[in-house]
Amino acid sequence: SAAQKGGFSTFMEKEIHDQPTAVADTLRGRIDDRGRLQLDGGIIHETVLNSIDKIIVVACGTAAYAGLVGRYAIEHWCRIPVEVELAHEFRYRDPVVGVRTLVVAISQSGETMDTIMAVRHAQQQGAPVIAIVNTQGSTIAREADAVLYTRAGPEIAVASTKAFLAQITAVYLLGIYLAELRGNKFPDEIESLLEQLDAIPSKIQRVLDTSEPIRELARTMANERTVLFLGRHVGYPVALEGALKLKELAYIHAEGFAAGELKHGPIALVEEGQPVFIVLPSPRGRESLHAKVISNVQEVRARGARTFVIAEEGDTDAANYAEQVFYVPSAPVLMTPLLSVVPLQIFALELAAAKGYDVDQPRNLAKSVTVE
Ligand code: G6P
Repeated sequence: SAAQKGGFSTFMEKEIHDQPTAVADTLRGRIDDRGRLQLDGGIIHETVLNSIDKIIVVACGTAAYAGLVGRYAIEHWCRIPVEVELAHEFRYRDPVVGVRTLVVAISQSGETMDTIMAVRHAQQQGAPVIAIVNTQGSTIAREADAVLYTRAGPEIAVASTKAFLAQITAVYLLGIYLAELRGNKFPDEIESLLEQLDAIPSKIQRVLDTSEPIRELARTMANERTVLFLGRHVGYPVALEGALKLKELAYIHAEGFAAGELKHGPIALVEEGQPVFIVLPSPRGRESLHAKVISNVQEVRARGARTFVIAEEGDTDAANYAEQVFYVPSAPVLMTPLLSVVPLQIFALELAAAKGYDVDQPRNLAKSVTVE
């Protein structure tokens, strides 16, 4: 009913607008004044967490992209190697996993069979498992050794949006906690990280409030056959998610690429009029990355691409090279995915709606895939 949709015409639109709340709720009260993470169930002893020498994230679909984002943050903050593995590939490759491997299972539903099987495999090898799950009491939440619930609320639309932002938030919390626990190398940075996370929900709200230009663009693109997405560093998983949303909702062929890989193949796809979205790294990040991705914009543009850039407010350089720039508020570099993915979600939603598709129930997809 309209009431359930909070006045929006689809669940997906509502859930996109729920994102500031989903992030704020996931953060609330999670780290105590001694820097300890408040888990929602189970325990993994601090001695175990101190002895781990590797983290493996197992997940599927959008949840796996949350893991990819988290990897940049956890490796930087904690200096622990992080692998992200699609859950259905994990146990079939005979992974190196044992008592010193922390396995983090990310799942909105907690019922994805591929992820359940990966959790069981990890536990058989003696690995402690933390679940980052949205659904209370779900199978993965029950079977894991400890749970950190995302508090996104029920997600009804098949394509994941608010659960994704909540998952990224939860992975950051885990990373901040592990960094504290293991004697963090960047005390000042970590000190301010929680404060900066707290500032994210109102920034997401700003992205939502200024989304009309990307909606307008989406409505003109119903006849596109292929859309490419480029990103680098934390913008890379954002590009993957932007492409996935477009496939899922608008049934348009879309690919996300690491921008650095462009010259190694994907640039051959670019021809006159090809739309390319580029998630531009913050100019405040690793200095050279911004310039390198700007040259990627120029390279595809020189071959006739239409370039649409997601950039940080104040990045005036972007406008010199793009057909259109969509600005998001500035944030610490590692947290920018929580902002830069939002215009891409809205783009896919609006384009699918323009094509007359059911955005809540895309064809051929299930909200939760409970078979292997
Ligand atoms: C299905 C859904 C996706 C989701 C994936 C993982 O394929 O259609 O939207 O990302 O499963 O689901 P989970 O519940 O484990 O996060």
